Amino acid sequence: MKIIVTKNYEELSRKAGNLFASQLILKTNAVIGLATGSSPVGMYKELVRIYQAGDIDFDEVVSFNLDEYIGISPDNEQSYHYFMKENLFNHINIRPENIHIPSGIAVDMTVAASSYDKMIEEAGMIDIQILGIGNNGHIGFNEPDVKFEARTHIVELEQETIEANSRFFDSIEEVPTQAISMGIKNIMQSRKIVLIASGEGKAKVVQQMIEGPITPELPASVLQLHPDVTVILDEEAASLLTR
Ligand code: GLP
Repeated sequence: MKIIVTKNYEELSRKAGNLFASQLILKTNAVIGLATGSSPVGMYKELVRIYQAGDIDFDEVVSFNLDEYIGISPDNEQSYHYFMKENLFNHINIRPENIHIPSGIAVDMTVAASSYDKMIEEAGMIDIQILGIGNNGHIGFNEPDVKFEARTHIVELEQETIEANSRFFDSIEEVPTQAISMGIKNIMQSRKIVLIASGEGKAKVVQQMIEGPITPELPASVLQLHPDVTVILDEEAASLLTR
């Protein structure tokens, strides 16, 4: 793993944005893996800025998002579909037909999950995947005790995740209890992975991910086995690292 420590969230976002942008310059038809949550918001702003400056073009880019809540329609403001439009897609020239986000309202979720895997394969797999990390070590919505060989699947969200994500909802009762998420296998098959984390609240889980044992109890620890992972942290998130 390559670890980059930045002064603050702004620098983290710039570095992550630049790293992502450099991949799009090198491969104009890249397949990019995208994440939601607060962590990538600054990076998406940075990508929009670089796009507006004319340095990157999304015309041939294909995107796959990690996950979506089950039972929430794409036009709901709490959906990850909505989040992606607001934070990125509405501001760049990506083609709507090249955007992929798992459906949270498919009639048959199992079919939706396996067809998502198929679409990733048909696109030639993900060139670069951005990840945040949950307080319990989840990536995407792969909660502790996940199977490392799982591909896109239905997830029962942990109470800790429901509580953490309730900040985006009016009340905790409104937070969905299930999600559809790319699996660890999909993530590990990405050619390049960039994980970002900021704030002291993430320090412990970041330390475990990087320096702890590789275990399904901390899903992000599996990234130690990937050949090309860059972790970008601010000083607070890096504060418990021993090296
Ligand atoms: C959510 C998402 C994850 C994200 C995590 C951390 O549960 N499914 O993809 O990494 O939250 O979110 P944040 O960046 O807001 O801390």
